[in-house]
This record gives sequence, C-alpha cells and structure tokens, in this order.
Amino acid sequence: MAQARIGLIGLGVMGANLALNIAEKGFPVAVHNRTTSAIGDFIGTAGDLAASLVPAMTPADLAAALTAPRAIIIMVKAGAPVDATIDALKPHLDPGDILIDAGNADFNDTRRREAALSAEGFRFVGMGVSGGEEGARNGPSIMVGGAPEAFAEIEDIVLAIAATYQDAPCAAHLGSDGAGHFVKTVHNGIEYADMQMIAEVYGILRQSDGRSPAQIGALFEDWNGGPLQSYLAEITAKVLAATDPESGRPMVDVILDRAGQKGTGRWTVIEALKLGQSASAIEAAVGARSWSSVKDLREIGQDRLHGPQSSDPGPILLDADLERALLAARVIAYAQGFSLLAAASDEFGWTLDLARTAEIWRAGCIIRSALLDDIATAFRGDLPGGSLILAPAFTRLLNDNIGALRRLVARASLSGQPVPAMAAALSYFDTMRHARGTAALIQAQRDFFGAHGFERTDRDGDGYHGPWGN
Ligand code: 6PG
Repeated sequence: MAQARIGLIGLGVMGANLALNIAEKGFPVAVHNRTTSAIGDFIGTAGDLAASLVPAMTPADLAAALTAPRAIIIMVKAGAPVDATIDALKPHLDPGDILIDAGNADFNDTRRREAALSAEGFRFVGMGVSGGEEGARNGPSIMVGGAPEAFAEIEDIVLAIAATYQDAPCAAHLGSDGAGHFVKTVHNGIEYADMQMIAEVYGILRQSDGRSPAQIGALFEDWNGGPLQSYLAEITAKVLAATDPESGRPMVDVILDRAGQKGTGRWTVIEALKLGQSASAIEAAVGARSWSSVKDLREIGQDRLHGPQSSDPGPILLDADLERALLAARVIAYAQGFSLLAAASDEFGWTLDLARTAEIWRAGCIIRSALLDDIATAFRGDLPGGSLILAPAFTRLLNDNIGALRRLVARASLSGQPVPAMAAALSYFDTMRHARGTAALIQAQRDFFGAHGFERTDRDGDGYHGPWGN
C-alpha cells in the first residue's frame, strides 16, 4: 500500500541523514539500499523517526510504497551508479514520476539524463545538496535544477528540510536541466579556492614564521569574529586547536600532506575553460591539490631545488595584513565563480538568478560566510561589467585590502613560500584594472607565424596583418 510521500535510494552517510531530516519534518519516507542489510540497520537506529520510515527491500517495493506521482531521491556515488539506479527503477515507474539525483553529479550527465528521461515521459531533477553530514541531517543548502513543474511537486519537502537564513529557506529552483548541479559544482570550486587560500595563509604562519598550529588556530578564531566570518574559518580554528590523542602532537602535524579530490573542483575548471572563462583562483586550488599528491617528487625537490638566496624577506606582514589579504582573495574567488555562473547561464539558457544563488549559500553550505549577504545585495544592485569586483561595495573593499594581498604575495615570493591561489587572485585583479593589456603582442605573434589577422585600435573590422615581411 502506498504510504510514503517520497522515496530515497542510497543509505550512505548523506542519504541516511537526508532521510532522517525529511522524516523529522513530517514526511513519511520509503528507503531502499542496494545492500539490503543496511535498510534494517538504518531504521533500527532511527529512534522515534523509525515510525516515518518505510523499508523497501527492492526497487519494486519502493515504487509500491509511494503515493503518485512518485518522487524518489537518488543518493548514490556519482557516475555509473546513478545510471544503474535509474535503470533499476524505471520498470516500476509511471509517466510523470520524478527522479531526483541529490549527489554531486557532473551537470553534463544531468542534462543527458534529463533529456533521456523526459523523452520517456518521466521527470528528472538534478539537486545539489551542500553541507556535509551535519547539513544533510539538520538543514543543507539546496540548489535545484530541472522542470519547474517537477520541482513544484517536491517543493514543500525541499523547503522544509533546507537550512534557513533569517527564517528564509536556503533552497531554490535555479534553472532547467543541469542548472542545480552546475551551481553546486561551482560552489565546490569556490570551496576549493577558499580552503586553499586559508591553507596558504596557514603555510606562511607555520612554515615561514614558525608559529604553532594552536597559535594559528587562535588567529582564525579571532578572524572568524570579523569580515572573514565563515564556516571554513570556524572549522580551521577548531582543526588547528586539535591534538592527536595518540601522539600528543598537533593533529594537523600528523596528517599526511596529500589532499584528496572527488572531481567537482576539476569539473569547475574544465567547464570554465570550455566556456572561454578562467576561474584562475579555483584552477590554482585544484592544481595545488594535484601538486600535493606528488609527494615523492617534492621529497626529492626539497634537497635539490633552491629557495631564495637573498636575505631580504620582503615587506613586513602584520596579522591584520593576512586577514585583509585573505578577505580580498576570497572576494576575487567568489567573483570568478559568479562570472562562471553567468557565462554558463547564457550558454545553457538558465537565466540563473545570481542574487538568489548567493542568498541560498548564506546558510547550510560549506562556503557560507558573512560575505554572501553583501554579494546578494551587490547582485540586486548596479553591477558594471557584470562582475562582482565592480559592484561599488566590493570595489571599495578590494581597493582597501588589495595592498595587503600585494604585500603577502611579495613576501611569500621573496621567502619562497608557495601561494598559488592568492597569487592567481592578485593577477586577476591586476589584469582587470588595466584597460589596455599586453594581448596586442600575442596577436602580433599569432599574425607573424600564422597570418591569423588582428583588429586595429584605429579602424573598424578585423583581418588586418602586420608588416612582417615573412
Ligand atoms: C558540500 C561539499 C561536499 C563534499 C565535497 C568534497 O558542499 O557539502 O562540497 O559536496 O565535501 O564533495 O569534495 P572533495 O572530496 O573533492 O574535496
């Protein structure tokens, strides 16, 4: 007998917590997992919420447990497992039923799945969910893509389970097909840049200045009370304060310096390049994770590659400079992420509401920060050139703080400390403040070796050639 309003497949950490969140908001959930022993185990530990959870041992049971039109959340590993889950469900569905992929999918896959399922009469929603385990259980930020009519069928549930910011749910339908997963991917790209920039500041304090993790943690705790207020600053403070119970050493000192990555950062960079954009701070952060993984090479390089020979350490850096530099660099990373969203929106016809996107990132998600409220306000106002860096409030913020970023990059460079994301952010800023750059020379070179032609500054049209005589 149909008893549940919504179904969920995939009782891993995120799926299980999302199911509990939905049940707690008063919506009965039918749950299924490929390894069926996990179903009973999950319900057995759900306490009072078990009464709102309906076990489904097969895809057919799951379909039978749901009221029409069926809505089923898929929370399995991205890629082939999502397709396999869809294939297993399809024979048990009716036209109009809705499948919701709530994992971190590549938006190209979401577009493909949406087109294929629509052609068969089903509906498909690509739903980005951010906030990790805690968010899934108590309120994530939710970025929805797909047909608006499909979203309308599940909107009450999505809004009920989302995080709230000043009582407004951090969930929204952002556009058709892959829009939700694209926005989630760029969210993660910004997450990569922010984490990398924090790590770079940590590197200066720890490796150049020799401060202890606990001292640096205290600094982040302090900064978290100011304009850098953010979830990532908050957890950085906590992480740096932690001690390894086994060795008694700072926890961060016993963790191997090789960063994992599951793909969303890389997808952000790939899509940026495909759209003719460069989210350079995100690119640098993805690259830095890759460099972190060539530990063997770095171990040999440490003995053979020379650092700075000069004793000039460069400009003095006060703690306040580090705070200001991080703030400026963070704004630039956000600006690049939002420019990428705007470019994708044009390309795919999503009409993304960038202000609304910033609003639903204000709570629940990993990049939630004090800046997002100001970013939302900026996107609702005058935005010359379409970029956040030219919104009056952010132009002011950058002009006030860019000197600190400049000093940080100079100091890091002179002392041989790598700061790839901070340096990328600074170069972006410096590029954008030059009305005339250096690409004329690139054009001349292209024309010289390949007769590619160029535009002139003093005449209309293109296809001009230089007097190279070759
Ligand atoms: C979130 C996180 C979440 C997850 C990332 C981590 O918004 O809740 O971004 O999606 O933590 O997948 O990605 P990496 O493993 O690539 O760092």
